[in-house]
Amino acid sequence: MMENIFSGIQPSGTITLGNYIGAMKQFTELQDDYNCYFCIVDQHAITVPQDRLQLRKNIRSLAALYLAVGIDPEKATLFIQSEVPAHAQAGWMLQCVAYIGELERMTQFKDKSSGKEAVAAGLLTYPPLMAADILLYNTHLVPVGEDQKQHLELTRDLAERFNRKYNDIFTIPEVRIPKSGARVMSLQDPMKKMSKSDPNSKAFITLLDEPKQIEKKIKSAVTDSEGVVKFDKENKPGVSNLLSIYSVLEQVSIEELEQRYEGKGYGEFKGDLAEVVVRHLEPIQKRYYELIDSEELDRILDEGAEKANKVAAKMIKKMENAMGLGRKRR
Ligand code: TYM
Repeated sequence: MMENIFSGIQPSGTITLGNYIGAMKQFTELQDDYNCYFCIVDQHAITVPQDRLQLRKNIRSLAALYLAVGIDPEKATLFIQSEVPAHAQAGWMLQCVAYIGELERMTQFKDKSSGKEAVAAGLLTYPPLMAADILLYNTHLVPVGEDQKQHLELTRDLAERFNRKYNDIFTIPEVRIPKSGARVMSLQDPMKKMSKSDPNSKAFITLLDEPKQIEKKIKSAVTDSEGVVKFDKENKPGVSNLLSIYSVLEQVSIEELEQRYEGKGYGEFKGDLAEVVVRHLEPIQKRYYELIDSEELDRILDEGAEKANKVAAKMIKKMENAMGLGRKRR
């Protein structure tokens, strides 16, 4: 039997080079060897305010991007979270297994709630919903970027607690973080991760940025005044980040790049990197624009939701039985 993979991305903006390198690239590499579920986690996106029309647009756009980067609907199940009600149902049950203390300790919760007066309760209970996403599909492996590691640890804790307290029904999932590119940094502040919700759009490159924009953003990326293309995360975080991006996309080692740019300045290095990024995104964008208004996209999402609903409904029954919800059926 093939093992299962689950992963999700929030439709909270156009996805960035960080999402691509940290997560999506892994997805396309894994889909041949695993039974994969890839989700557009729209219910997670509403834990912070969203414009409804923009959210709808982002959901469809993310679906098209999953396919454009190479997710094959013949191999993987692609679906929208809110079209599979089991996620919210399982999320509720797992909220009743999670403790407030452990949820308050999540760094994402602390970051997103700090300094805010009114914080949605959903921001606190986000991790049990994420655990539900994963546990509904007997997931063995969860490919994500480094920032999701803590949420994955909590998912494992909740699954083990549920198995112990009620019935041993959940597979305990393992996290899979890529060796390089697990944490792509902001182009404007290389101590911060690149994020699609950054208010400064120069801080990130989206998969749909035009060549001119990409060039501009890379050329204005914050580096240092040393002028030496060398990997040194602590002292040269900006240059190191650009080297990582270059290395992952071109599949050449950092050492090789350091040699290639020895004695050359940042201008040439950045110009070449911009070319690499543009070349990489070109076919993805072409496919994206073919898909975005197509009926094919709706058909794929309908089929994905149907498949996911079937699998997830079975796990809901098991969870309800384990917890004693509803009636015993003959
Ligand atoms: P999200 O939408 O913030 O990010 C989607 C994926 O992209 C990775 N990522 C990055 N990787 C490298 N460098 C970066 N700068 C970078 N920024 C983001 C994330 O690690 C993630 O893999 N909570 C999740 C969504 C989610 C989920 C799930 C993931 C909901 N349910 C179940 C896995 C399984 C999130 O907010 O990802």
